[in-house]
Amino acid sequence: MKNYAKITATASYVPANRVTNDQLSEMMETSDEWITSRTGIHARHITTGEDTSDLCIQVAEKLIAETNFPADSLDFIIVATMSPDYTCPSVACMVQGAIGATQAFAFDVTAACSGFVFGLATAEKFIRGGYQRGLVIGGETTSKLLDWEDRSTAVLFGDGAAGVVVEASDVQHFHRELLASDGTRQKSLTAGKKNFDSPFWQEPPTDEYFLQMNGRDIFDFATRDVVKNISAVAAEEKDTIDYYLLHQANERIIDKIARKLKVPREKFLTNMADYGNTSAASIPLLLDEAVQAGTIQLGSNQKLMLTGYGGGLTWGSLLVTV
Ligand code: ACO
Repeated sequence: MKNYAKITATASYVPANRVTNDQLSEMMETSDEWITSRTGIHARHITTGEDTSDLCIQVAEKLIAETNFPADSLDFIIVATMSPDYTCPSVACMVQGAIGATQAFAFDVTAACSGFVFGLATAEKFIRGGYQRGLVIGGETTSKLLDWEDRSTAVLFGDGAAGVVVEASDVQHFHRELLASDGTRQKSLTAGKKNFDSPFWQEPPTDEYFLQMNGRDIFDFATRDVVKNISAVAAEEKDTIDYYLLHQANERIIDKIARKLKVPREKFLTNMADYGNTSAASIPLLLDEAVQAGTIQLGSNQKLMLTGYGGGLTWGSLLVTV
């Protein structure tokens, strides 16, 4: 019976405007040396006119063109984002309308930088339940959530979108997963708080709209909780995993996780040097780049660990073969 999920295509799209560390140094008190040595980031793409839905629609159109199936054969569309165009409609519904996926249900997942992993885990359950085909896209225009006068956050993030097609297969490709959240650490990373201004409640203005992060807390969380999570999902298979695709926040986080897991650093793919932290888009962007480069080949049975971690706090890993 065909009810195992399988990733059958990947695609990505980033805004054309590429902003280097040197360009940021002209806008704020920072330097290429500081950003590169602390994060491994050299450049990021920042939108000059496309919102999150525009980026995600580009990805959906590429996925459909690549796989050659009609848009109305899609059963569902899931978009992971923390920077949607609107609170309602969802970005996923905007994608559904734009591509003519008339038979698909569509909704967004909000789990910050873990959003793609949470969305993909959800998609797998839909396929297990009998749906045949869907899209999972991570897309962000985090630039609209940044205080561009705050050098401690503005240099870290980038805009972009990427996604996958998930289809039913008679062979198992999703082997293990472990998703987690800890709302008691919600203040470690916040963004987008809108104040009440109704006839019934005028909330005192706060400055919580822009993204705020306790960098040290996030670093510790990523190198402690996330390491435990990957270890649990990898179990005895740690050394047989071909590639580890982790959320791309910071090169030093990945170096430390690799050391703690005692897995060769070469097995951890990275591309934050060119994109910065694209939140929910980072893992599918990394996956698509590796597929385009031939490092990862869909249909080859390579074993991958996909791990997200971010605000909420949220984190989780999926062990898949492709
Ligand atoms: N350029 C120059 N100097 C800067 C900049 C900048 N862009 N940003 C901060 N500084 C200064 C600070 O003001 C501080 O100066 P001071 O010592 O005079 O006060 C100094 O650099 C050190 O600041 P810290 O915040 O302590 O720097 P740290 O070494 O912790 O590095 C960083 C900051 C890179 C954010 C680090 O904490 C980190 O890697 N955290 C992980 C979090 C992360 O990457 N989050 C991404 C988003 S979250 C997610 O995706 C899950």
